[in-house]
Amino acid sequence: MKFSVLTLFPKQVKDFLGESIIGRAEEKGILSIEAIDIRDFSGNRYGKVDDTLFGGGTGMLMQCEPVYQAFLSVCGEADTEGGIPSKKPHCIFMSPKGAVLTQEKARELTKYDHLVILCGHYEGIDQRVLDEIVDEDLSIGDYVLTGGEVAACVVIDCVSRMIPGVLPNEEAYEEESHMQGYLEAPQYTKPNIWHEKAVPEVMISGNHAKIKEWKRIHGLYDTWKRRPDMLEKLDISSEDWKKILEIEKDR
Ligand code: ADE
Repeated sequence: MKFSVLTLFPKQVKDFLGESIIGRAEEKGILSIEAIDIRDFSGNRYGKVDDTLFGGGTGMLMQCEPVYQAFLSVCGEADTEGGIPSKKPHCIFMSPKGAVLTQEKARELTKYDHLVILCGHYEGIDQRVLDEIVDEDLSIGDYVLTGGEVAACVVIDCVSRMIPGVLPNEEAYEEESHMQGYLEAPQYTKPNIWHEKAVPEVMISGNHAKIKEWKRIHGLYDTWKRRPDMLEKLDISSEDWKKILEIEKDR
């Protein structure tokens, strides 16, 4: 899968994604991540890509043409008039006005071979170019960042780890928080006893069916306690509720 990030700060994106699991996936050729500097398409000697706002208001707005040219540069063959080809890559604009990223959304994005992620800075980007190239706006939460770069890295990280071969095995993410609509159960490693706290007995029992059930019910319990909004979307049976309330009694 290929990601093309259109940004004024390519180094920020490459530095972040060059490390760890995503960096290794890129070295292995499973992913390719390019960060395109919008300033390279300024069309002037100073690399100026922004201007003051029409209609008043403080700050500067990124102009259409550099963003448009940066986008064209990652689209492959232009159409006969030098414009956007009909088979253009899917383009996401990182914006606090977008739909908030969810695990489901990230999974949906894995279906694309090529994603273009556009990052705004300053006051934002002229609406006319957004209307022309962007397929969807995405936000990473209800707060405002200084620019879209960190948000783009979050999207790429979250989407990439679901691509086969990026994580050591697929189960690694299938059982995680959010993947099944509820949070992951607590996890434990050696030693068996630490600060007089023992690992739950079932976890060292070797009984895989019991361990699986323990994880499921404790995952549901934690979801009920921490994210009741998520539980509302699940159809919890009365049997399961009984088990969840048992945990509550034992605490
Ligand atoms: N740019 C600024 N704030 C953002 C947010 N919350 N999500 C995505 N892009 C942003």
